[in-house]
Amino acid sequence: MPLAFEHVTYSYGSQVDGMGPALDDVSLTIADGEFVGVIGHTGSGKSTFAEHTNGLKVPTSGRVLVDGIPTSDKKARREVRRRVGYVMQYPEYQLFAETVREDVGFGPRNLGQSDDEVDRSVREAIELVGLDYDEVADVSPFDLSGGQKRRVAMAGIIAMRPHILTVDEPMAGLDPQGRHEVLGILRELHRRGTTVIMVSHSMDDVAREADHVVVLDHGRLADEGDPRTVFSHEERLHRIGLDVPRAAHVAHDLAERGMDLPGPCPLTLEDLARAIAKRLGRGGDAR
Ligand SMILES: Nc1ncnc2c1ncn2[C@@H]1O[C@H](COP(=O)(O)OP(=O)(O)OP(=O)(O)O)[C@@H](O)[C@H]1O
Ligand SMILES: [Mg+2]
Repeated sequence: MPLAFEHVTYSYGSQVDGMGPALDDVSLTIADGEFVGVIGHTGSGKSTFAEHTNGLKVPTSGRVLVDGIPTSDKKARREVRRRVGYVMQYPEYQLFAETVREDVGFGPRNLGQSDDEVDRSVREAIELVGLDYDEVADVSPFDLSGGQKRRVAMAGIIAMRPHILTVDEPMAGLDPQGRHEVLGILRELHRRGTTVIMVSHSMDDVAREADHVVVLDHGRLADEGDPRTVFSHEERLHRIGLDVPRAAHVAHDLAERGMDLPGPCPLTLEDLARAIAKRLGRGGDAR
């Protein structure tokens, strides 16, 4: 089920004079089953973009189509929300119910799932985010740790079984263990066929997980494509205030010092280690 942006422009009514629109003529297509990484400097329009994927915001001009349905079609809004789940930044602030079970069940119940279906969806979603259903179902979400709250909030969206899941900075504010767990959840959903759209400040996470990178700059689409291509445009990224993944950075540094690595530019530290080992193992004739 593709997601298409067609010349999407969005202006906040209250935008200060001199500021361009938050999204400016963005056109792109996200295919089924992709893992999309959305990057850009602060204020580049990432969250505004994310909110357009499920109709939480609709374009000032242009269209967003979810499987051909325009998000601006009021009658289809529920259908769009069913297909595209949106996890906002710091979603744990939206937890509200007295128990984890009720909180996670709110979305699916609203979509009209039967009691049995709701129970199944809730159990499945809680387990998918790595929590023990029997342990947490009747606990107040407010008694959980920060990382657990984040995962319960994500489970509330996952329980609606969206085909596309958009997550805005899902690892923000988590410790390394929490980041690892949240990335693991997204990877597992993707493995099961969900299209994942992840807004992130971490070039390393995007390089590792994404197969399609979208680069925003002042609301405009500055670049998009597979990570190897996008991250090879180092100067373009630097010009708009972004970095390349650490591994690519080290590879460039080594090349400047006269040590060219074999193969394509490494995107992850594992790729980098492998390339260095190969280079050293083969001695001077590595290329
Ligand atoms: N409620 C609002 N009212 C007016 N302008 C807004 C509002 N929200 C965002 N903007 C402006 O729209 C532009 C895009 O903001 P957006 O939050 O989408 O960027 P972002 O890339 O998500 O930033 P960050 O990395 O800080 O989360 C910015 O110029 C921002 O100041
Ligand atoms: Mg944002």
